[in-house]
Formats: sequence, structure tokens, C-alpha cells
Amino acid sequence: MDLDTAIKERRSIRKYLPKELSKELLQDVLEVALWAPSGMNRQDWELVVVRGGQLERLKEIVSKSKEFILPHLKELFSEKIIKISLQVFKDFGGAPAVILVYMPKEIIHYDRSLDERGRFHLEFKRHSRLLSASALIQNLLLAAHARGLGTCWMTGPLYMTEEINEFLGRNDKELVSLITIGYPDQSPPAPPRKESVVHWVG
Ligand SMILES: Cc1cc2nc3c(=O)[nH]c(=O)nc-3n(C[C@H](O)[C@H](O)[C@H](O)COP(=O)(O)O)c2cc1C
Repeated sequence: MDLDTAIKERRSIRKYLPKELSKELLQDVLEVALWAPSGMNRQDWELVVVRGGQLERLKEIVSKSKEFILPHLKELFSEKIIKISLQVFKDFGGAPAVILVYMPKEIIHYDRSLDERGRFHLEFKRHSRLLSASALIQNLLLAAHARGLGTCWMTGPLYMTEEINEFLGRNDKELVSLITIGYPDQSPPAPPRKESVVHWVG
């Protein structure tokens, strides 16, 4: 599969086949994803892969984020889309694995000694880490798609960050996103893309 095709044909998958996903294939996808660029090449990211019985507890926790997400979905989508979207919050659409992306936590606290540049630097570091983690995630989605796997990048579950981190014993890290992964049991149409977002100067 060439790169342009992978980019254009990848879709967010919210329903998966009950088919086992081998650790080797997952490792292969993650190895490729980790070739992402990162600010100052810090590679300030960590991945946690949850599979098997451990997924049940994660599902329980994440399903509680539905109530926080629902009002936002109602603002944007039809009943049908909302139903599909909520299913992925309930049981990850049956995905056999979920990958959690973490980065170091920046404690933004009141610090008299920090001048404006000091505060900017803290924000700059967090910004850079988020962008780097996003590059890794897009790599992951594309590497998975190229291997016949489906994924859904999710930030909705972040409403339950505290509970998720407690479950995984990672209170010292910032949770960036969750990604469901498995063999797709749907091939959704491509949501249209906006036009006129490119401004040429020169
Ligand atoms: C930062 C980010 C957060 C997202 N969070 C969610 C989510 O919580 N739940 C969900 O079902 N989809 C989520 N998505 C998937 C988007 O809804 C999806 O990418 C978009 O509708 C375009 O569809 P496509 O991925 O099939 O091209 C997220 C995507 C991104 C980039």
C-alpha cells in the first residue's frame, strides 16, 4: 500500500471482529510508530498496551466518560452517529487491545521565581510533547492500517484520566490519548474534508 492511499483510506474504526491480535503484530506496529519525529528528539513518550482480561476494568472506567461526552456529541451529530460513537466508549467496539499514550507531566504551579519566559518555557515543553505524541499516534494509525488493522484515536476517555491512571499506576504521567486497535468489522465512509483551508502566500 502506498503512503497516499494509506493516508486517505484510513478510517476511525469503532467496531472490531472478535479475532485475536498477536503480540508480534502489535509490536511491529509500535516499532514503526516510534519512528515519529519529536521536539529536540526527546522522544518524551511512553506507550501502555492493555489486552485480555485487563481490558475489562479499563472498559468499566472509560464507559463512565459517556455522560461527559454526550452533550458535546449532541451539539454536532445525528442520533445515528451518536449511537455508534457511544458504543466505542462502552466496550471499545470489541477491540482486542487498547494503546495508551503518555508523556511526562508538567506540574504548572504558581512559582514566584518564574518570569514570563520561564512560564512560556513550561508551556512550550508541554506543547512540544503533545505535538510529538500526535506524530507518533498518526504513524501508529497508518502502520496499523497498512497491515489490515483498524484503529480509533480517542481523547473522550480523558474525562476519566484520574481513574485510568490509578488503575495503571501511572499518576506521575500525563495521559494524551487512547487508541483502540484490532481487525475491523466495518468499513465506514470517509467523512468529508473541509476545503479552503490552505492559504498561499507567494
Ligand atoms: C485528537 C482526536 C481525538 C479523537 N477522539 C475521539 C473519541 O474520543 N471518540 C471517537 O469515537 N473518535 C475520536 N476521534 C476520531 C475522529 O472522530 C475522526 O478522526 C474524525 O471523525 C474523522 O474520521 P476518520 O478518522 O475516519 O477520517 C478523535 C480523533 C482525534 C484526531
